[in-house]
Amino acid sequence: MKTEMKTQFFLISGIIFSLFSCNRTQSTQNEQNMQQKEDTMDKIEIQVNDTTTRFMKVLLINGSPHEKGCTYTALCEVAKALNADGIETEIIHIGGDNIRGCSACMACKESGHCVYNDPVNEVIEKAKTADGFIFGSPVHYSGISGTMKTFLDRLFYAGAKELAYKPGAGVVSARRAGTTASLQQLNQYFTINNMPVVSSQYWNMVHGNKPEDVLKDREGLQIMRTLGHNMAWLLKSIEAGKKAGITLPETEPRERTNFIE
Ligand SMILES: Cc1cc2nc3c(=O)[nH]c(=O)nc-3n(C[C@H](O)[C@H](O)[C@H](O)COP(=O)(O)O)c2cc1C
Repeated sequence: MKTEMKTQFFLISGIIFSLFSCNRTQSTQNEQNMQQKEDTMDKIEIQVNDTTTRFMKVLLINGSPHEKGCTYTALCEVAKALNADGIETEIIHIGGDNIRGCSACMACKESGHCVYNDPVNEVIEKAKTADGFIFGSPVHYSGISGTMKTFLDRLFYAGAKELAYKPGAGVVSARRAGTTASLQQLNQYFTINNMPVVSSQYWNMVHGNKPEDVLKDREGLQIMRTLGHNMAWLLKSIEAGKKAGITLPETEPRERTNFIE
């Protein structure tokens, strides 16, 4: 009986150890692969004006308090696919910052930036030279994280014009539930701001509590890769359209009615 217990103990410890080391290796391997892809990829160059060119770029915003958690793991998979298709990427972690909510002062309507000088203004600046956006958030009580919410409210209020007509997609990570509601919450920001929404083969979600869990979510990771390739395809199509002389749609003077008058 004692020998049996000992054997079970060693067996269980062995499994736990190999799980951890395997996942850690996978995680490191992921980051190495990403770096290699960045170094070797044939980047897509675009003409900004007569004299300037730059590489096509997607910003990926991580709204999780965990810098290298589940949301990050999902975003890395999207970034890898984008990189493989020649699109430069930058993952920006805002979820660990203390980002206050919008004070509705309206000063940004004149200035184009927020009176609170924090990552919101940094991202508005970066958005000027970005071609697409992926916003990733963990599910917190069936919605996006509090920090992501305050970040997005202020980013879109102050920096809407820097994102308009550029493709966007949301990505969510949850242990179990609340993913569709949270994804919907992210999509609302794109659809009020003239942004084409990029889709995948399924809704953009991964499952897990730890990055190791997400690495085991094979379907979730495939959804992320498809999302990355779809975004790259749309970005290239938009660029080809511009070269062929297709301009942005003309906008009408803005109507703002409410339900009172
Ligand atoms: C405050 C809080 C609320 C959460 N609410 C939910 C929830 O409603 N549904 C769910 O499935 N998981 C919930 N979770 C678990 C996280 O969504 C899940 O662990 C996620 O994958 C973590 O991603 P991250 O590592 O990028 O932070 C919650 C976690 C926290 C900290």
